[in-house]
Amino acid sequence: MKILVTGGTGGIGRPTVQWLLAHGHTVRVLDLRIADPLPGADYRQGDITDFDALCEHIADMEGVLHLAAYPHPSMATGEEMFRVNVGGTFNVFQAAVKAGIRRVVCASSINALGFNFGVKFPAGQLRYFPIDEEHPLYTTDPYSFSKQMIEEIGAYFWRREGVSSVFLRFPAVYDLHAPGPSILRTFVQMCYAQTGAILSLPEPERTVRVRHIVAEFERRAASREWERQFDLTFPDGAAMFGRSNFWTSLDVRDAAQAAEKALLADYEGSHPVYVTDAHNFVGFPSEELARVFFPEVTTRKKSIVGTETLVSIEKAQALFGFAPQYPFKKTDS
Ligand SMILES: NC(=O)c1ccc[n+]([C@@H]2O[C@H](COP(=O)([O-])OP(=O)(O)OC[C@H]3O[C@@H](n4cnc5c(N)ncnc54)[C@H](O)[C@@H]3O)[C@@H](O)[C@H]2O)c1
Repeated sequence: MKILVTGGTGGIGRPTVQWLLAHGHTVRVLDLRIADPLPGADYRQGDITDFDALCEHIADMEGVLHLAAYPHPSMATGEEMFRVNVGGTFNVFQAAVKAGIRRVVCASSINALGFNFGVKFPAGQLRYFPIDEEHPLYTTDPYSFSKQMIEEIGAYFWRREGVSSVFLRFPAVYDLHAPGPSILRTFVQMCYAQTGAILSLPEPERTVRVRHIVAEFERRAASREWERQFDLTFPDGAAMFGRSNFWTSLDVRDAAQAAEKALLADYEGSHPVYVTDAHNFVGFPSEELARVFFPEVTTRKKSIVGTETLVSIEKAQALFGFAPQYPFKKTDS
């Protein structure tokens, strides 16, 4: 397939371009900056908010993998986040229509749910485990809202133009092969240690500690801290973020695999789908994590076995055959 990859020089983009080239696709990259280009791909420097330029770069392509975005709430103001993440995605779909492209795959995020970077957590916001695509969204920060909005854009272009699309709701995506220090590797190590220490506390100390962690997380979130800086080094910070991501992660090769399968599979419509590793990354029983860290969420849509993910990947499996091949092992960190 001839694939335009927006944001193809980024953290997920580069290894994904590598994957697509290795699987025989023709790849054109569109990015604001071109760094460390891969042989075999056609690199174009450009901005997805420039519609005319986008139309030039998308011409003669057959599919689009749209990754370009601000990937965190600390990276832009609300208005800038909306301009690039949401306006840019509208442009990508509109340009795809002009070029006769029928398939667009976009990076959404687990944050479309609105939990992790949210600033408000009303009672009953989380209804059940495992979380799936039927779970209501409640976004209160500009990044998560931008992901909720782009999923609406995909639905609109399906209704209006018959362009089919998948929105990959990635969790934290990590690349074990990337040289140098990795914030995600450090995070996983810290999260494993902090979560294990909490789980091993006797009752009632454990309940008191978890209540404290949740209260502290919600206090920091309400102050909109994540929109100013991203720092996990406060006490129990990694345990807090493990909890707010439901201990999910994804190897970048599985992110690439998901993107390729979503581009090629036979389906119609516009579909948000969670894609995570099949297991939580801390290696503790998921039911115990849910019970201890989310005592108020008592409903289970299905029983949760062993360390299996608290965010269902069944829709991705059914829609395009997603099957994680690179499970995270604690020894990887
Ligand atoms: N990395 C994660 O763990 C993670 C998790 C969930 C979702 N996502 C989503 O996946 C996508 C890729 O994330 P990433 O971690 O690779 O981010 P990244 O910042 O490493 O890469 C994004 C790329 O997009 C490019 N870009 C930004 N604005 C652009 C514009 N206006 N025009 C053209 N190019 C532009 C940047 O130059 C960069 O190369 C994003 O949509 C992000 O929201 C990432």
